[in-house]
Amino acid sequence: MLKRWSAAVVGGVLLLGALGACGGEKSGDAGSGASGGAKKDKIVMGFAQVGAESGWRTANTKSIQDAAAAAGIELKFSDAQQKQENQIKAIRSYIAQKVDVIAFSPVVESGWDTVLKEAKDAKIPVILTDRAVDSKDTTLYKTFLGSDFVVEGKKAGDWLVKEYQGKTDPVNIVELQGTTGSAPANDRKSGFADAIKASPNLKIIASQTGDFTRAKGKEVMEAFLKANPKIDVLYAHNDDMALGAIEAIEAAGKKPGTDIKIISVDAVKDGMTALAAGKINHIVECSPLLGPQLMDLAKKVVNGESVQPRILTEETEFTPEQAKAALPDRKY
Ligand code: AHR
Repeated sequence: MLKRWSAAVVGGVLLLGALGACGGEKSGDAGSGASGGAKKDKIVMGFAQVGAESGWRTANTKSIQDAAAAAGIELKFSDAQQKQENQIKAIRSYIAQKVDVIAFSPVVESGWDTVLKEAKDAKIPVILTDRAVDSKDTTLYKTFLGSDFVVEGKKAGDWLVKEYQGKTDPVNIVELQGTTGSAPANDRKSGFADAIKASPNLKIIASQTGDFTRAKGKEVMEAFLKANPKIDVLYAHNDDMALGAIEAIEAAGKKPGTDIKIISVDAVKDGMTALAAGKINHIVECSPLLGPQLMDLAKKVVNGESVQPRILTEETEFTPEQAKAALPDRKY
């Protein structure tokens, strides 16, 4: 898989907090914006969201809607219910409505070139947010704003390696993957595998998709528990699947966080509450608060200003103690 956005290889990446500003390098040539002309005072954005599969996604949607209202941008919003064909339909309808800018978080990485080309031909700039596409032609979109999911997977793996440092007994890991074919599922899997590869006792004995949902996380964990008498660790690609899995673990008479150690990604309130209670052992943060930066970028691309091709969000990790301290102020 082509990972042109890895932090290590992208030159000129701008690292910003979730509320930071952006700008700088010359942009690609997807869509024309309003270069050379007067600034547009009323911007219409079409946003094709993935769905409402997780607490993270709900917080992301709220951030985008609130930020659009605050920036005075008219938002046309659609929920694709985790289906690529719905997102493609929504993008085509935004093209037909001649919106000023299209933003979307691609449910899967592949299969976007045709519709992105249609937007480019219609001179409507496109911004990728949260998830990337694997299109070789990077002129099909203006910029990609979001996390580095490979780094997130690596942080999860590094924590586990440290946790079992100096021990040689076999450690059986089960993995709950995100939506098949999505950037966070692909990247969190590869980053994690890479981090543990030098520790032969850390072994992934089962790995399956839980589609980023609590219900599927529970269902797949039940199957893992039935098929595998000895599970030491669960690595879940998001908090919602970890929370579903916790229900399955408790129903099987085991203690999550103690009998089975759990690592997940996101750091939404429910995940942080489980971490503070010792049911999850470690969480790698993935920030959903992309709205303000997205609106700032939208204004720039519509007005023909240059933007960085890749904008990374700034994120941390949490131990149970840190979760306890962070919870009172947690916004999502
Ligand atoms: O793309 C971001 C991921 O999508 C989040 O980690 C997950 O919770 C969501 O559904």
